[in-house]
Amino acid sequence: MKTFKKSGEKSKTSFSGKTSVSKNKFTSDKFFKKDKNSIKSTSRRKSSEIIHTKPKPSVSKLENRPIRLNKVIADSGITSRRNADELITSGAVKVNGRVVTTLGTKVNVDDRISVNGNPIPENDRKVYFVINKPKDIIVSVKDERDRKTILDIMKVNTRIFPVGRLDRNTTGVLLMTNDGELSHRLLHPSYQIERTYSVLLDKELTHKDAAQIEKGVELEDGKTSPCKVIYDPRSNKKVIMILKEGRNHEVKRIFMHLGYNVRQLDRKVFADISAMHLQRGEYRQLTKKEVNYLKKLVGIEF
Ligand code: URA
Repeated sequence: MKTFKKSGEKSKTSFSGKTSVSKNKFTSDKFFKKDKNSIKSTSRRKSSEIIHTKPKPSVSKLENRPIRLNKVIADSGITSRRNADELITSGAVKVNGRVVTTLGTKVNVDDRISVNGNPIPENDRKVYFVINKPKDIIVSVKDERDRKTILDIMKVNTRIFPVGRLDRNTTGVLLMTNDGELSHRLLHPSYQIERTYSVLLDKELTHKDAAQIEKGVELEDGKTSPCKVIYDPRSNKKVIMILKEGRNHEVKRIFMHLGYNVRQLDRKVFADISAMHLQRGEYRQLTKKEVNYLKKLVGIEF
């Protein structure tokens, strides 16, 4: 039989009837600041699997983290890196209209590069960002009502787009990229990419409803997939939800279906990428390790 822990109690059984909290490494202290010892989690995942990379250098300054010119040329598919070096030394390459012949030159994401007079389209250079989305920002490339969009707060001169959606008032982790293939796969239900949300409700979540949510609830577009619900030890109005699908307004609709209103929604993790160390509105480029990790998650060779 399942038993449930109230705030502060030590419980041995989770919703799914699996391990006790104390043995579980993926405790929600990643998400809840206090009461580390009394947290219940249904997940067996190790905290080390979540990538928390320190922003370096500080976020808003690094939209133009330099990349080697020969890599940009090679990545565009024109030629190999070695041949790109030859093109550079032969004077065939211009950066912002000026011939560059120095090997090892680095360029920024928004520099204009041409080879033998042919511009390398920006979109051939793949860029990857994580932003800690603030409230009142529309996650869209353009808003017909002219409200502030995510692109208005990111000073990146490459055409990037959001990987999926967050509601206007949802905060937290959002990936932005110009890599359509990666984005498409991360959002595709078949890859079961995890999204972790911190949810503040208007009233305490009953254990019965939490168990129902974990099993799946019937919404107008079908039954939701099984997910995990973890109580905040300080208040049963606050939970962490770990979902493996990303339907529109999914979290809000799940709770609304059971008679709750979501007061605050903050995405803590998407595809193991967190916004730790980022203030709201700050962003950083993903590290090569993170990008390769994401590609590996969805079976893209790199
Ligand atoms: N679920 C929601 O309801 N809203 C979001 O922004 C994300 C997930």
